[in-house]
Amino acid sequence: MPALSATSHIWMDGTLVPWDDARIHVMTHGLHYGFAIFEGIRCHAAAHGPAVFRLREHLERFRDSARIYELKLPYSVPELTGAVLDLARATGTTEAYIRPIAFSGYGQMGLDPTGVPVRVAIGMWPWGAYLGEDGQTRGVRATVSSWTRIDSRSLPPQAKCAANYANGILAKLEARAGGYDEAILLNSSGIVAEGPGENIFRVRNGVLSTPPASSGILRGITRDTIVQLAVEDGIPYQRTGFTREELFTADELFYAGTAAGVTPIREVDGRPIGSGTYPVTRRVQALYEDAFRGRSSLHEDWLTYLR
Ligand SMILES: Cc1ncc(COP(=O)(O)O)c(C=O)c1O
Repeated sequence: MPALSATSHIWMDGTLVPWDDARIHVMTHGLHYGFAIFEGIRCHAAAHGPAVFRLREHLERFRDSARIYELKLPYSVPELTGAVLDLARATGTTEAYIRPIAFSGYGQMGLDPTGVPVRVAIGMWPWGAYLGEDGQTRGVRATVSSWTRIDSRSLPPQAKCAANYANGILAKLEARAGGYDEAILLNSSGIVAEGPGENIFRVRNGVLSTPPASSGILRGITRDTIVQLAVEDGIPYQRTGFTREELFTADELFYAGTAAGVTPIREVDGRPIGSGTYPVTRRVQALYEDAFRGRSSLHEDWLTYLR
């Protein structure tokens, strides 16, 4: 996993502060109970300069995550947009990952967060491909996790809440202990849901598919991007999920997410997937990169340029 490297500033509760000064108290409520919602966004060098990809959609999902958990966000989407752009300009980074987080702050303990001040911070730093550059080229080795994906009867998967990620961490640790790069989680009905931090796509006989939102996944913005781009490109797409055995009979499988980009899966539980060539995955990688680099005239509205 690529390391965290400091940049010059963090945006915190309305102001830019030096990176090293963005501290919180160890008795912070959200730290104890995982009561925090966050986002993962990327900024890239694009056709007309550095640009943030699908910023509005990410911040709207941030707002929705807060709504689901009744966390009262003190900033609107337009205010957060301004905050991200101020931070991006201050840090001077071009290829970077952006992490907004809102959490219940200091002043109270116990599960009721009512009255606890909500803190908001945004960090931004250069971060390589989450499953490695090599993974994006050669593909990664995945395993089906023994941990079941959370579902909306327990922890709402469509909220990007810190507590949800304890489930992903268990799956990731198990995958690593087994010598795999990443996990695939099934939902409580045994249907494929997603990776710990990525959505999953399958290709069979040239047809692309990905599990529906109802299968217990985060509605990925990369997932949405890929579906739109594939349909425009004439790649057949079916709105349908798949079972564990359909992982093994796939011609291609890939993970998709802001952190991981589009990463082919070359093996599941030691079984090679397809022929080891990824024609549809490669096409999707190229379409996705064209979109975030501003080379696709159809989707200029997906980019927010810094200047
Ligand atoms: C659990 C989970 N699924 C899927 C994704 C992919 O979502 P996106 O493409 O919006 O980054 C992420 C990343 O945010 C995630 O954490």
